[in-house]
Amino acid sequence: MAGASVRQPVPVAFEDVQAIVRFAHGKLVEARYLLVRVRDLASARRWCARAPVTNAVETSPPPERALQVGLTIDGLRAFRVGEAILSAMSSEFISGMCGSANRSLRLGDVGESAPAHWQWGVGHLSPHLIVMAYAKADIEAWLREVRGPLWDAAFETIAVLDTSNMGGVEPFGFNDGISQPAIDWQQRPAQDQTADYSPSTALGEFLLGYPNEYGRYTSRPLLDPSADAHEDLAPGQDAPDKRDLGLNGSYLVVRQLEQDVRGFWAFLNAQAGADPKIREWLGARLVGRQRDGQPLVSERAPNDFDYRGDPYGMRCPLGAHIRRSNPRSADLDQHPHGWLERLGMTLGIPTPTHGRDVVASARFHRVLRRGREYGQKITPEQALAQVPLGEGPSGLQFACLNASINRQFEFVQSAWLMSSKFGGLTGESDPLIGHRAPLSSGGDTDGFSIPEAAGLATQLRPLPLFVRVRGGAYFFLPSLRALRFVSREQGHHGSLAKETS
Ligand code: HEM
Repeated sequence: MAGASVRQPVPVAFEDVQAIVRFAHGKLVEARYLLVRVRDLASARRWCARAPVTNAVETSPPPERALQVGLTIDGLRAFRVGEAILSAMSSEFISGMCGSANRSLRLGDVGESAPAHWQWGVGHLSPHLIVMAYAKADIEAWLREVRGPLWDAAFETIAVLDTSNMGGVEPFGFNDGISQPAIDWQQRPAQDQTADYSPSTALGEFLLGYPNEYGRYTSRPLLDPSADAHEDLAPGQDAPDKRDLGLNGSYLVVRQLEQDVRGFWAFLNAQAGADPKIREWLGARLVGRQRDGQPLVSERAPNDFDYRGDPYGMRCPLGAHIRRSNPRSADLDQHPHGWLERLGMTLGIPTPTHGRDVVASARFHRVLRRGREYGQKITPEQALAQVPLGEGPSGLQFACLNASINRQFEFVQSAWLMSSKFGGLTGESDPLIGHRAPLSSGGDTDGFSIPEAAGLATQLRPLPLFVRVRGGAYFFLPSLRALRFVSREQGHHGSLAKETS
């Protein structure tokens, strides 16, 4: 269970891990995600048992097609895995992304992003399964194969999430997917607390059943062997007398985030007095990187930096998206004291000590991003042109993997991105994804400050709403063995449709 001491590292059985944990399928430029509910349980079980789910074994050449499968808590219920297993899943997974008003508030799913407006993920539009298909070309043909003859009997499709290949650039026009945690597949002992920032992150932060950054095992269902008659599951590393349903699995967070590309560039253009250079300069401050991915704090390699040399946010604003989503060096000691700090405090601008307000070390809150863009790519110039291109909505099918949704995705989203109190800032939230609505206490969340050397800060206020949530759900991404276990009949027969009618 959580907290048990760590044993000798056991090498990872890549054939049991879904490939998406290890590979982003970058060369498989076509992708489509099917969100489905179980129509007939027996057919759904057979489909799952036969699904050609791609594992994480490295092959040469790499596969030209891939398939990954995840289940929500309702999905596990629909597969009738049993109450003992359901209740041993993590509480935020059980509650679901929009399971309570409080959670929605913390995630910033309010106003136009409130679940009441979602196109999927709520009520009868809550999926049981996500079926993620990737292909180098002809995704349609791959999907036909993936669906196979059982599909129509097994599932009812409630939403299809399309993606488009924007060449590594997200719809606002910035290079994306540059900074990722580097999974420590070798399972070295947890780093020293005071170590420098490093992308290296414990395997147990992304795969259940291995030590995490605390050197502990994240809790997950550990079953009595009698509950696993076919010996589908492997023993737990930390509990050899139990069968580990979580081992080699992960939690997958999916959120459909629609981006107002025209609104984004129109706002920046107006703030810049239509000067293209200033417009670019402002955009880069919001993100923390230039559009080509160059970080504002460093001229070195695009991911080899922290913020210790920039405690006041003079180079990269403290509230920039990449600084909020991964403060890197936030609570490593930041020494500068003296006149500048005193001046900053007098003028009410953030000071180095504010950096330490971010109470937890960044390495406990990493997420492995696996998102894909959707919609038509347009340039900032096209976004500003008066003549519309007739492009439909575009955005990010945001997806990330983590062993603890609560400590990783939810913490990053609520304590760092959405919070109006971050690193000494007030009245701001994330400049890209903030919901902009005032707090219940009346405080603002729609500002953005860009500190400048003279001690003053350029204020952008009010920032318009640039991103709206259109749907979302938490999924369990089982190992291949766990998927086989879940697909098995566990002493019950019949279909959901028959039961509910
Ligand atoms: C439509 C919404 C979003 C857009 C347009 C967006 C855009 C970007 C861009 C351009 C980068 C810089 C590229 C990079 O460092 O890899 C980035 C980095 C990042 N974003 Fe987002 N993002 C969005 C939503 C989110 C959400 C919802 C989260 C998490 C809850 C998130 C977490 C991150 C993280 C962790 C990084 C890397 C920061 C670092 O390690 O330096 N983003 N994002």
